[in-house]
Amino acid sequence: MKPRQLRDGVQWMGAVDWNRRLFDSLIPLPDGTSYNAYLVRGTGKTALIDAVDPAMLEILKRHLAHVDRVDYIIAQHAEQDHAGGIPFVMEKYPEAIVICSPKAKDLLITHLDVPENKIRTVADGESLSLGGKTLKFIHTPWVHWPETMSTYLAEDRIVFTCDFLGAHIASSELFAGDDTYVIEAAKRYYAEIMMPFRSMVRSNLKKIRELQFDLIAPSHGQIYDKPERILAAYEDWSSDRVENRVVLPYVSMHGSTELMVDHLVAALAERGVAVQKFELTTTDIGKLAMALVDAATIVIGAPTVHMGPHPAVFSATHLANALRPKLKYAAIIGSYGWSTQVVERISGLIPNLKVEVLGTVLCRGLPRAATFAELDALADAIRAKHAAL
Ligand code: FEO
Repeated sequence: MKPRQLRDGVQWMGAVDWNRRLFDSLIPLPDGTSYNAYLVRGTGKTALIDAVDPAMLEILKRHLAHVDRVDYIIAQHAEQDHAGGIPFVMEKYPEAIVICSPKAKDLLITHLDVPENKIRTVADGESLSLGGKTLKFIHTPWVHWPETMSTYLAEDRIVFTCDFLGAHIASSELFAGDDTYVIEAAKRYYAEIMMPFRSMVRSNLKKIRELQFDLIAPSHGQIYDKPERILAAYEDWSSDRVENRVVLPYVSMHGSTELMVDHLVAALAERGVAVQKFELTTTDIGKLAMALVDAATIVIGAPTVHMGPHPAVFSATHLANALRPKLKYAAIIGSYGWSTQVVERISGLIPNLKVEVLGTVLCRGLPRAATFAELDALADAIRAKHAAL
């Protein structure tokens, strides 16, 4: 894609990565992603907001081929997918100064070898005039690193938010418009990297809300030309509201745990409780993360391997703990061969989840009538709690 005009003197200069399927060797990218950079030309100075992932550097080089001067590189975030191209930009424009938050300075030096004497830090609310265009820097920490900041271009009513409010989605469309899939992709992205910092998300949303803008231009995905949609979605996701829904990640080695899971799913459905079931050897962990954004309850289905949970359950439980979803209730179910410590081991994996444990249902070997009765009782307990949400 070629550079695209957003406003007079404001161009999108990003790279669309249609084929990337994994981010940080961790996050699935079913729809690819983009690394958005923006060029803002004032009457006196020119600024480049964010660079691109080093893997897409050739595209940024082409975009900049006819740009004779860059005075400022605005590094809103030090992670490589936005800052990785900065050394190249500095080499091409030796006069350029890197503008960043105070916390970003050390990260840019440590991770990217940016020379200290080429960095200028900016305070929260500080402005930089380019001549007829003014960049105001808004510190938005912990969305999702400690140093992250946004940039407000008042004259053109655009706020550039880097990772915050973004989405991993590759598209030829520059603007999100009314596309509902963009919000779904943004929810996945929120779940994967923003959810652990829910209180900071809320406070940063308030700071963004104080600005007057028509466009939100993140550094992943499309530009929001109807910004209320993404702001309202983030306000909902980061609120304390949970849904009458159970997320049920599980593995079954010989079928017994699956019999228990299926019985519980049916029992919950009969009681009006929605369930999302995830078989962990095949599931997309991004889907699991999305489901955790607003579910009220997690039930972990864990067969026993050498006294502890199956490694796939261990991994998913560790991930759920790291993502800090707003779950209120939890339970553990599963079958074991002769002895088990799955409850103790799983309980030790979830210190971040401030949940009330509604019960554990374990059985040796095949589940029988007594186990199914315990599962029915667990479904009753979940329904009762959800009725009071
Ligand atoms: Fe898109 Fe935190 O980098």
